[in-house]
Amino acid sequence: MTTPAKTAAGASDEVIRKHNEYLWPAVTNFYQKPLVADRASMQHVWDLEGNQYLDFFGGILTISVGHANPKVTGPVKAQVDRLQHLSTLYPNEAIVGLAEKLAQITPGALHSSFFTNSGTEANEAAILLARMATGSFDVVALRHGYSGGSSLAKAVTGQAPWRKAGVVSVGIAHAANPYCYRCPWGLKYPDCEVACANDVENLIQTGTSGQIAAFLAEPIQGVGGFITPPPEYFKIVFKTVKKYGGLFISDEVQTGFGRTGKKWFGIEHWEVTPDIMTCAKGMANGTPVGATITTKELAASFQGLTISTFGGNPVTAVAARATIEVIEQEHLIEHVNTVGSYFRERLEQLREKYPLIGEVRGKGLMQALELVKDRVTKQPAPQATAQLLERTREQGLLVGKGGLYGNVIRLSPMLNIPKSDVDQAVTMLDKALALTSSAAD
Ligand SMILES: Cc1ncc(COP(=O)(O)O)c(C=O)c1O
Repeated sequence: MTTPAKTAAGASDEVIRKHNEYLWPAVTNFYQKPLVADRASMQHVWDLEGNQYLDFFGGILTISVGHANPKVTGPVKAQVDRLQHLSTLYPNEAIVGLAEKLAQITPGALHSSFFTNSGTEANEAAILLARMATGSFDVVALRHGYSGGSSLAKAVTGQAPWRKAGVVSVGIAHAANPYCYRCPWGLKYPDCEVACANDVENLIQTGTSGQIAAFLAEPIQGVGGFITPPPEYFKIVFKTVKKYGGLFISDEVQTGFGRTGKKWFGIEHWEVTPDIMTCAKGMANGTPVGATITTKELAASFQGLTISTFGGNPVTAVAARATIEVIEQEHLIEHVNTVGSYFRERLEQLREKYPLIGEVRGKGLMQALELVKDRVTKQPAPQATAQLLERTREQGLLVGKGGLYGNVIRLSPMLNIPKSDVDQAVTMLDKALALTSSAAD
C-alpha cells in the first residue's frame, strides 16, 4: 500500500476542534494532541498528516486479523449490496451461518446465540437470562472488572472512574480480584493458597441473599490492565458458584477469538466451562456486533419477548464469520501462542532493563506492562505511563493504556502480526522507555 498523501497543515487541528465542540467531553482521546486517524491497512494506521504507525492496540482489541483485511471487507461489501438489514424478524443465511459457527467453536454445550451491537448489551442479556433461569437476583462480579457503559454494566464494573452517578448496584457484590501483583491480603502465590478464590464463598454468605443468579468475570481483566489470575482461581470459584446455585458467565469481550493463544476463548485456559459467554470487540474485526452464547436449555428459559433491532445484522454477521474463518484458515490461534510467547520474552527483557516496569503479564497477544515509581513500594506511575504513551507515538507505535491507577500499558496487536513487527515494536518501546525513564529521573 502506498503511503497516503500528506494533507494540508492544520487539517488535524480542525478535526480536533470539532471533536471538542460537538462531542461529549467524556469521550476522551489519547495523547496531549490527539492523533487524527485517516486510514489503516493490516497492522498500520496513518494519521491525517500521512504519518505511519505500527498498531499494537488494534482499536482497543477490536482488530483481530488486520485493519481493512480484504478477506473480511470483501464479504462485507458483497453483503452490503445484497441485504443490509431487515431485522431478526426475518431469518437469513448470514445470521444463522454465524450462530452455527459459534456453536462449533465455543466450549461445552454452548450452542445458542443472542446477538447485540456491543459487549455492554451482551452482558446485560447474560445477567437478565441468569436471573430468569435461576430465579435468583444476586450477581457476584470482580473488583477492577469492566463490563460496559449501561447502568447495569456500570454497576457490575469494579472501577470508580467508570461508575459515576446513576449507577444502582442493588443485587451486585464485588469480590476481590486475583491481582497477585497487588494482593489485597499482601500474600504471595502459591503460598497464599489462592485466598481470593476462597473469599468468594465468604462474600456470597455475607454480601448476597445466599443464592446467586450468576458470577460474571473476564478471564483476564482487560480495562483493569490485563490482570491475569493464577491457574487455579476460576476452577475454585466455579465450584463455589455452583454450590450457591449460580451460573458462570465468562465475559470474553477482550479475551475471545484466539486473542490469548492456544484456545479460542480465555476461559478455556482456566479449565472451566461457562454456562454463558459474552463476546464483542475482536469478534468481527472492527464491525459492531456482540453475542451472548449459552446452552439450548438456558436459552429456552428466557421469559417474555426480546429483540435487538440491529443485533446480528447480516453485514456484521458476515464480518464476524469471515473473521473467524481467517483465524481458522491461517492457524492464528497457534500463531498467537508462538509469537505471543516470543513477545513476552522480549518484554521481560525490557523489564530487566527498566525499573519503571513493575510487572509484565498477560497471555498470547494480550500483554501488559504495569509501571511503578518504585519496585518495592509498587507506587503506581500514571504520569510516566502518560509520558510513555506520548513517546511511543513519536516512535511510530500505537499502544494502549489502562488499569484503575492509569499505570498500565496494554499491548494487543492483530493476531496475524509477524515476528518482525514484534521486534520493531519492542525496539520502539525500548527507545520510548529510555526517554521516559531519563525524564523521570
Ligand atoms: C471485558 C469487557 N466487557 C464489556 C465491554 C463493553 O463492550 P462495549 O464497549 O462494546 O459495550 C468491554 C469494553 O471495553 C470490555 O472490555
